[in-house]
Amino acid sequence: MKLTLKIWRQKNAKDTGKMVDYQLDGVSPDMSFLEMLDVLNDGLINKGDDPVSFDHDCREGICGMCSLFINGEAHGPDRGVTTCQLHMRKFKDGDTIYIEPFRAKAFPVIKDLVVNRSAFDRIQHAGGFISVNTSGHTIDANTIPIPKHDADRAFDAATCIGCGACVASCKNSSAMLFVSAKVSQFALLPQGQVEAADRVLNMVAQMDQEGFGNCTNTGACEVECPKGISLENIARMNREYLSASIKG
Ligand code: SF4
Ligand code: FES
Repeated sequence: MKLTLKIWRQKNAKDTGKMVDYQLDGVSPDMSFLEMLDVLNDGLINKGDDPVSFDHDCREGICGMCSLFINGEAHGPDRGVTTCQLHMRKFKDGDTIYIEPFRAKAFPVIKDLVVNRSAFDRIQHAGGFISVNTSGHTIDANTIPIPKHDADRAFDAATCIGCGACVASCKNSSAMLFVSAKVSQFALLPQGQVEAADRVLNMVAQMDQEGFGNCTNTGACEVECPKGISLENIARMNREYLSASIKG
């Protein structure tokens, strides 16, 4: 396949950045999208040019590091996959592909296609955990029986990989889908009840402090989420937040 790539190049956080055109030949439909960028970068390095910076780690759809906005969609045109699991067979010979970073005020660009998503880490630190006394004996997780339905829903919420596609897809740059998944995975389990009120209040406060926008129920986040995180989690977080606010 022969492709025209229009890629966002930005030297650093202060640079204004611009789209730059690249021609790439010999792309196999079996390559992943990131492997296609590796080929582009090999060519740039061989010519002595600066390679395109992009985030990646596991390349297995697990870590949440890859984060490209491809032809106007977070993680590209395929559904339920991350950029690292998107394959070039989704494109045609002769295609022009626009590649941009995830854009949001709370995700500033570091270089080219790499954005700073540490705002998500700070939201997690504000409450995305349970406190367990592990001095002496570690409590066996199976000592508390969990109904299968609850365990399944908690597990579904826990599959959020923190990629940020929900934020990038939202016209308000809202992080509600991410935060609600992190709240829900504990709200659905007995182990999460002790700190439930503090968790939701602190995580939502941190989310607001980081500059993410409000949710206006467009549902774009759910459509673009590679892990199929449901909007139900946002409804659950809103109930948890209301209940915690009344108790407080
Ligand atoms: S909710 Fe989905 S899109 Fe948002 S961070 Fe989690 S996995 Fe990524
Ligand atoms: S590189 Fe880990 S999810 Fe894509």
